[in-house]
Formats: sequence, structure tokens, C-alpha cells
Amino acid sequence: MTHVVVVSVLFVSVLFCSADTLKYMQKLGASSLCDYLPMFWKETLLLLLQFVQKWLNSLSVSHLSTVNEYVFMVQARGIQIRENVKNIGAQVLEQVVRGAYSINGTDYAYDFNVSESDAPPTTYLPEGFTYLPSQVCPERLHTMKGRLEVNMSEVSLEEVERSLLEEEPNMAQGGHWKPDDCLPRWKVAILVPFRNRHEHLPILLRHLVPVLKKQRLQFAFYFIEQLGTEPFNRAMLFNVGYKEAMKDLDWDCLVFHDVDHLMENDRNYYGCTDMPRHFAVKLDKYSYMLPYNEFFGGVSGLTVKQFKKINGFPNAFWGWGGEDDDLWNRVQFANYTVSRPHGEHGRYMSIPHHHRGEVQFLGRYSLLRHSKERQKVDGLNNLNYSPLVSRRPLYTNITVSLSRMLAPIADY
Ligand SMILES: *[C@@H]1O[C@H](CO)[C@@H](O)[C@H](O)[C@H]1NC(C)=O
Ligand SMILES: *[C@@H]1O[C@H](CO)[C@@H](O)[C@H](O)[C@H]1NC(C)=O
Ligand SMILES: *[C@@H]1O[C@H](CO)[C@@H](O)[C@H](O)[C@H]1NC(C)=O
Ligand SMILES: *[C@@H]1O[C@H](CO)[C@@H](O)[C@H](O)[C@H]1NC(C)=O
Ligand SMILES: *[C@@H]1O[C@H](CO)[C@@H](O)[C@H](O)[C@H]1NC(C)=O
Repeated sequence: MTHVVVVSVLFVSVLFCSADTLKYMQKLGASSLCDYLPMFWKETLLLLLQFVQKWLNSLSVSHLSTVNEYVFMVQARGIQIRENVKNIGAQVLEQVVRGAYSINGTDYAYDFNVSESDAPPTTYLPEGFTYLPSQVCPERLHTMKGRLEVNMSEVSLEEVERSLLEEEPNMAQGGHWKPDDCLPRWKVAILVPFRNRHEHLPILLRHLVPVLKKQRLQFAFYFIEQLGTEPFNRAMLFNVGYKEAMKDLDWDCLVFHDVDHLMENDRNYYGCTDMPRHFAVKLDKYSYMLPYNEFFGGVSGLTVKQFKKINGFPNAFWGWGGEDDDLWNRVQFANYTVSRPHGEHGRYMSIPHHHRGEVQFLGRYSLLRHSKERQKVDGLNNLNYSPLVSRRPLYTNITVSLSRMLAPIADY
């Protein structure tokens, strides 16, 4: 019962208080319903949600992920309904305005386009376009055809190694590749944190390596595995991966990649143009809708310069959830604007799995309230660790045991 109430409340607030709705209402010169809600509304919601999650947690673990998925679905639904409301609203307004101003058959030039203007012109180079080894690689090659087949069937690492190396004998240890027919525009380190998911690694490599080659990027893969019994700390693993990767080469672009995310479109360019970038916009598990505007999870990317400026990821998020929202906050505080691939380019499928024994981080909301203060004292600058690093043909294996003592946080 409680959770039905909470979910409905959440639903209503998502509908009326989201940034999109506010923007749209402002455009119409009206105030939104959200203006009439008390200021602490959102905070209260988050606390309630936390409470429900705790309560369910005490019942059983399997409920927990169900609720989480459910909340996401509710948010996704909220977005869809909002879109419809927006469109209907815009249509009505358009009729009214046109009716008033087009007496003489001339249209009133009002901006009716409420859809997010995220669609840059997409011109890809023509078939047979040639470039020189002394030129910087083009970004929009004709070999990038768009929609990709996604093969999620399990495969052994050895088999993937054999087939990818057969195709590309020049691939160096650690899955390091660069084009030889042009100068790579970006040197991209792909960082992939994981635990208990060995079977996903070859699936990701089989899928992604050919795409990155087509995109003519210089790249290598870093798989960072967490040892020990502490809850999974995705963000700290990214920090470790970054530090280790920079010891190899002067990378200029970082892609933070979940191990179970497979892109569905090879025009989703993994170079660092328009960074910081959120690549994984439309996930199958959220019905191909952005769950909320500030969503920064799945696959994201920053230049090395940007990553340093925001002091990396936070180290304080033990258990899954929240660290991506904190990164979003950091990026905002640095006055960056997150870009996203438009339309179908940002589609991903995720390999189905359960959060095997991984716990959700319930303290995330209280941490997120102080993102700004914590940013200075928690990140690349308070990180200590001793990794075990080894090279495989297709990736660098970084295993590291993490504990809270390794990232002490000064008062803030
Ligand atoms: C419509 O045409 C009339 C006469 O030609 C003109 O006086 C009037 O200003 C026009 N109205 C608009 C909205 O252009
Ligand atoms: C609205 O924007 C979309 C993409 O930004 C564009 O394709 C479409 O033509 C625009 N529609 C109008 C009426 O301007
Ligand atoms: C998917 O991968 C498996 C194992 O590598 C392979 O046997 C199968 O043919 C692939 N399926 C498709 C549709 O390519
Ligand atoms: C971001 O912009 C605000 C307002 O323009 C400015 O006060 C602040 O110093 C900027 N922050 C950074 C990190 O550049
Ligand atoms: C990485 O190396 C460790 C030993 O150092 C090994 O136990 C682990 O299986 C390796 N992981 C991968 C993904 O290769």
C-alpha cells in the first residue's frame, strides 16, 4: 500500500516538476503546477522512496531490484505522457495563434517546435570517399551504416581473441589499435568496471571492437575488476582505471562503459566531440526512453581535461546507484553542458542479468545533496589503491581490492 502511494506521488511529481515541463510552461508564459508545491516536495519524495526501499530490503532482496526497475518504468512512463501533453498543448496553441494571425494567408512565425532540437545535420561521407594517411580521420565515414546487429549469445574469450586477431594481426596487447590510413582524431581509453561478470567481457569485445575500428579511433580496453567483499564501487573503479590507463599512453578521451551495454548504432561516435557526452540515451530496459533528464548512466564520456577538472568520479558510493547522478552534478558545477547522440543513434541493448548479490546504495540521496562540497575532497585527489595489472591480447586486466580506507574523505 505504502509503495503504491509513493509511486503515485513520484509519478505526479515527475509529470509536473521536471525541467522539461517547467521550460515548456515558461515558454507559454504560464506557471506550472509545480510552482504551487512546497519547496521540500522532491526531498520528501526521495526520503519516502528510501524508506520504502529499506522496508522492502528487510523483506527480501529480490523485491529491491523490482522496485528500482519499477520506479524507472514509472519515470519513463511519465516522460511519455509528458511528451503527449506537450504535443497536444502545442497543437492547440498553434491552432489558436494561426487562427488569429493568418487572416491574409500568411503564417505567423512562432516557434512551435517543442521537440528537443538535438538533431544536427547528418551528412555521412559518400561511398568510395578517400583520405590520406597524413589527414585526420573523418568522423562521419560511409562505413558507419547505422543500425547494428546485436549478438548477445555467449562466446569464449579465446574464440573472440582468435577471430578479432585473425582479422587484425596488428592489434597490440591490451586491445590497442589505431588506424594506419589516417591520423586518429581521438585517443580513446574504454574503461569497463565489473565484478562477477566475466562472461559479458567477450560479448562486449566482439561487439565493440569492429565498431571502433570503423569509427577510425585509436583505442584500448581497460577492464577493472573489484576484489574483496565491499559493495561494488563502480565510480572508484573508473578512477582507478583512469589512473592506470594514463600510465600507458597520453589518452585524450575517456569512455566510461558498463559491461552489459551494447550499442545498436555504429553512428554513435565514441570520440570526444561535444563532450561531456552521455552515449546511452535509449536503453531497451527503459523502453528506449531517457528515464530522467539528468540520467548519466550506462555509457558516458569526458575528455581527460574535463575529467581532471571535475576531480573524477566520487569514491564515496558503495553499492550500485547514485554515482552517475553525482558525476552529472560535477559536470554541471564545472559549467559543462552534456550532449547526447540524437534520435536512434543513442540506442543500447543490455545483456539480461540480475544484480547478483550486489546491493543498492541507499545512502546516495544524502550524499547527492552535498555533491558540490564533496567534489573538492572526494575523487581523483583522495584515491589510494594497489592494483594487479596484466595484459591480455584484447584488454588490460586491472584487478583491485577496494575499501573505504583507501579513499578517506576530509570534512566538507
Ligand atoms: C491583411 O490584409 C489587409 C489588407 O490587405 C491589411 O490591411 C492587413 O494589415 C493584413 N493583415 C495582416 C495580419 O497581415
Ligand atoms: C522541428 O525540429 C525537428 C528536429 O529538431 C525538425 O526535424 C523539424 O523539421 C522541425 N519542425 C518544424 C516545424 O520546424
Ligand atoms: C552470434 O555469436 C555466436 C557465437 O560467436 C555465433 O555462433 C552466431 O552465429 C552469432 N549469431 C549471429 C546472428 O551472428
Ligand atoms: C560557472 O559559471 C558561474 C556563473 O557564470 C560562475 O560563477 C562559476 O565560477 C563558474 N564555475 C566554474 C567552475 O567555472
Ligand atoms: C585478471 O587477472 C586476475 C589475476 O591477476 C585473474 O584472476 C582474473 O581472472 C583476470 N580477469 C580477467 C578478466 O582477465
